[in-house]
Amino acid sequence: MSTKKIVIDPITRIEGHLRAEVEVDENGVVQEAYVSGQLFRGIEIILKGRDPRDAGLLAGRICGVCTNSHFRAAVSSVEDAYSLKLPNNAEIIRDLMAMALFIQDHVVHFYHLHSFDFVDVTSALQADAKLASKEAHKYHRKPFRNSHAHYEEVLQKVGNFVKAGKLGPFSNGYWGHVEYKLTPEQNLILISHYLEALKFQTNISKAVAIFGGKTPHPQSIIVGGVTSVADMLNPQRLNDYLFIMKEAKEFVERAYLPDAKLQSIAYRDDIKAGIGRANGNFLSVGGYEFEAKQRLFCNGVIYAHDFEHIEEFDESKISEEIDRAWYSGETRENEVCYTDLNEDGSLKTAKNDDKYSWIKAPRYDGKTMETGPLATVLVSYSKGNNLIKSFVDEFLAETDLELIDLSTTVGRNSARAIESGYICEYIFKLVSRLIQNIKYYDTDTWVRYDFEKLQKNANGKAFLEVPRGVLSHFVNIKDAKIENYSVIAPTTWNATPKNFDGLRGAYEEALVGIKIQDTSKPLEVLRVLHSFDPCLACAVHVIDADANELSSYKIKTLFEG
Ligand code: NI
Repeated sequence: MSTKKIVIDPITRIEGHLRAEVEVDENGVVQEAYVSGQLFRGIEIILKGRDPRDAGLLAGRICGVCTNSHFRAAVSSVEDAYSLKLPNNAEIIRDLMAMALFIQDHVVHFYHLHSFDFVDVTSALQADAKLASKEAHKYHRKPFRNSHAHYEEVLQKVGNFVKAGKLGPFSNGYWGHVEYKLTPEQNLILISHYLEALKFQTNISKAVAIFGGKTPHPQSIIVGGVTSVADMLNPQRLNDYLFIMKEAKEFVERAYLPDAKLQSIAYRDDIKAGIGRANGNFLSVGGYEFEAKQRLFCNGVIYAHDFEHIEEFDESKISEEIDRAWYSGETRENEVCYTDLNEDGSLKTAKNDDKYSWIKAPRYDGKTMETGPLATVLVSYSKGNNLIKSFVDEFLAETDLELIDLSTTVGRNSARAIESGYICEYIFKLVSRLIQNIKYYDTDTWVRYDFEKLQKNANGKAFLEVPRGVLSHFVNIKDAKIENYSVIAPTTWNATPKNFDGLRGAYEEALVGIKIQDTSKPLEVLRVLHSFDPCLACAVHVIDADANELSSYKIKTLFEG
C-alpha cells in the first residue's frame, strides 16, 4: 500500500507553533499522525530561585492568551504549599475573572479561530439577506442582529473586501472546497456573527479587567487573596461587570449557541461518521463553587466513552514521559535535547522512534487523555450534574443527536458552546453571593500572614479547570525560594506526542481515520486540530526527571478538599 505524507507547518489560527504530519493511503484516509509543538519555552527555568510570592506574575507569562489561568494556578499552588485558607470573597473574585475568560476564549475560538473551517466566505456573497434572516429563526426565536438591513450591510462589507482584491481577515482560506456544506445564507449568518464577535471580545475583556486591573496579564491576584478591594466595594464596578456579562449572555444565547446548533445540523453526516473522535478517555478536575457545596463542574475520569462508570480524579495517577520529546531525562536538571536533524543535516521524520516534539507526554494511569470543554461537559453530565444536564439535553434534542456524538470535531465545538451557555446562566449567582457577603459585612479579600514565619520548605500544587481543560501547577519551595516548578497545561494532554508506549494522544487519535478529499488542501486536518483550541505556548514545559512522581507531593488539591 502506498502512503503519502502531508505536512502542515505552521498551523495558523491557533496560539503558538504547531506542526502536523499525517500519512494517507491511496484513498486519502489518514493512517498515522504526528503532531509536534515547535517552540521551546522554559518559563520554569526563570522561576527557579525566585521568591514564591512572585510565582504568579512570572508564570502568567507562560502564555499570552491563558495569562489569567497560569497567574491564578501559580498563586494557588504557592498558597497550597503554605496551607493558606482564602476568604470566600477572594475565591469568588478569582472565579468571576475566570468565568469571563471562559466566555471570551470560547467565542473567539468558535468565530475567529475555527469558523472558517466550516464557513465559506465566498459562498456567503451569493446569499439573499431576507432568506438569511428567515434561516436564523430556525435556531433561535429571537436571533442576534437579524434584520435584512444588517445582513445587506455585511454583504456589502465583505463584497468590498473582495472587489478591492483583498480578503483581509478572510484571506488564505480553502474557499470553494468540496467539504464546505453550509448554504450561502448560513454562511452569511456566521460571517455576520464573526464580525459581531470582534466587538464582543473587546467588551468581555473589560469584565476580566474590572477585577484584574488589566487584561491580558491581570495583576490583582496575590498569595493570600486578591487586591481588588475597592472594585468589590464599588457598586458601579460590580454593575459594570454585570452589564457586560448580561450582554455576553445575550450573544451566547442568541448567536453562539444557535450557530453551534446550525453547524451540528449542517455537518450531521460528519458527526454520525465519528469524524474527529479520539480514544474516548476524558479528564476533568471540576470546580467553581457558586453555592455552598454546589460546583459548576464535577471532577472525574471517563475511559473509552464508558459514560456509565466515572472514576474520581486521582492526581497520583498522573505521570510524565519524555521518550519522544526533545528532552534528555538522564540528569536531575532537565536538559534540552533537540534532535530534529540527521547527521547529514537532513530533517528527521517522526515516523521511527525519534523525538519529535517539545511537548512532553503526560499520562493518566498510563493512558492518554482528552481534556477541555468536551471532557468537562461529558464528565459533569455523566455524573448527574443537574445544572448542566438541561443544557446538554436541550442541545441534543434540538439537533437530534446523542451524547456520544459530542465526541467528534463538530461535537467538541458544541460542548464549548454548551459550556458557555451554562456559565452565563450561573455567573449571576456567583455575583449574588459576593453581594450577599458584602451586605452582611464580610468584606475580607485576603488573609494576613507573616512570610518570614511561614515554612521555609514546602511543596504545593493546584489543579484548575480552565477554558482549554485541566491545568496543573506544581511548586517545590526550598529555603523560601522556588527550587523547582512544573506545569501540565490542557494542550500538553491533548497534543502529547507518542511515548515508547506508542499511544496516540487526542490530536493524533482524532486525525487517524479521517478522509482527506484533496491532499493539496487538507481542510479536514485543520478542522480536527482546531476543534481542540490548541494553545502551544501553554503546552511546552520542561520536566524534572527526578521529580517525575507527582504523587509524592501529597498535598490536597484545590477544590477537592
Ligand atoms: Ni495558552
